[in-house]
Amino acid sequence: MNILVIGSGGREHAIVRKLKESPLVSSLYCAPGNGGIAADAVCVPIGAMDKEGILSFVKGNGIDFVFVAPDDPLAAGMVDFLEAAGISCFGPNAKAAEIESSKVFSKGLMKKYGIPTAEYEVFSQPDKAMAYIEGRGSYPVVIKADGLALGKGVIIAQNREEAKEALHTIMEDKVFGDSGNEVVVEEFLTGPEVTVLAFTDGETMIPMVSSMDHKRAYDGNRGPNTGGMGTISPNPFYTEEIAKECMEKIFLPTMRAMNQEGRRFQGCLYFGLMLTPNGPKVIEYNSRFGDPETQVVLSRLETDLAEIITAVSRGRLKEITVSWSKQASACVVMASGGYPGSYPKGLKISGLDEHGQVAGATVFHAGTVQRDGGFYTNGGRVLGVTTMGSDLEEALSRAYSAVEKISFEGAMYRKDIGKAY
Ligand code: AMP
Ligand code: GLY
Repeated sequence: MNILVIGSGGREHAIVRKLKESPLVSSLYCAPGNGGIAADAVCVPIGAMDKEGILSFVKGNGIDFVFVAPDDPLAAGMVDFLEAAGISCFGPNAKAAEIESSKVFSKGLMKKYGIPTAEYEVFSQPDKAMAYIEGRGSYPVVIKADGLALGKGVIIAQNREEAKEALHTIMEDKVFGDSGNEVVVEEFLTGPEVTVLAFTDGETMIPMVSSMDHKRAYDGNRGPNTGGMGTISPNPFYTEEIAKECMEKIFLPTMRAMNQEGRRFQGCLYFGLMLTPNGPKVIEYNSRFGDPETQVVLSRLETDLAEIITAVSRGRLKEITVSWSKQASACVVMASGGYPGSYPKGLKISGLDEHGQVAGATVFHAGTVQRDGGFYTNGGRVLGVTTMGSDLEEALSRAYSAVEKISFEGAMYRKDIGKAY
């Protein structure tokens, strides 16, 4: 098979690496990819949202299968477009991807089908939202932009002033554009967070091993939300018993609800869960692999990924057994100084070999370019330094040893990945 992966981050690098191990894959392309992905796949300079460009590349280069990894092209109907042209894909169509791209839709789905989640109301006018928040009178309160916002559209307001400011930023300043036309105002939940990714073809659901993301920018879970600063797998809070409960009350009901709504979901469904004192609840769904969860989860996958994704696209997932390494894995993200705010680009990265790697770890590139035989920063999240170990402690100590070998001006990373328990 000739496979094209769409996307350009650390997640896509982890996907490419896994597919490269498959005897079923003869050639591997990535659009647009990045400096580090170029060591593992042929990178082609076509944007992830360029439907026509992707289709013409697919036709001109004998591509058999397209893996659409990021949220934006999924929400924009990349899969619908390619499938209409007869190309097999991994990823949901636009109607199914709405489970991520509209929080108003996903919250409504959970309410309708009794899937546990935070209590909420939807508003399209900031003054009505504010009146509701004041009427509730309890803080913190969670305010979420309806649409996609690079993982930054959620504000936890500690008081009236912060709530007012959040509504203003999202609904009037429109920092997330049309994603802020409506907001979800919801109850603040507490408890450990767990990410579970699941393969599903709409008929069968196979949850992957659990993981834990670290969304806040700074140590001690402080600072602004980011796309994710590091991950561990397994998630130490996610017991067998909780997994069973989630399967019965959340995972399977979600798959069935989507079918019931005529939005059969085929691809990877991301469950962002919170283990509250009242049981596991859904914080968010994503319609794709998480970043940087993929880096730790796929590192533990033992079954051929190419076999799984083709089975999903054919609706034959039930024929597959998916197995996992018992080892633990950890990923520490090295980011540009200033991220998730503004940050410089084009800084030289030291410590990487000619393939963009370092001894003792797998370095998934998120925002890099390669030129003059070296690697340079080219994004907020730059590298995801990923390791395995017999337990989390070993995986983490290996990851941090590897991180210390790499440097670039202003580099920042959290020192407490996997330590929050
Ligand atoms: P989301 O983008 O929906 O995953 O939200 C980003 C982060 O905000 C989550 O990972 C949680 O840490 C936090 N969050 C979102 N919703 C809630 C909630 N209802 N209660 C408490 N924290 C939340
Ligand atoms: N790591 C969170 C996400 O991919 O949305």
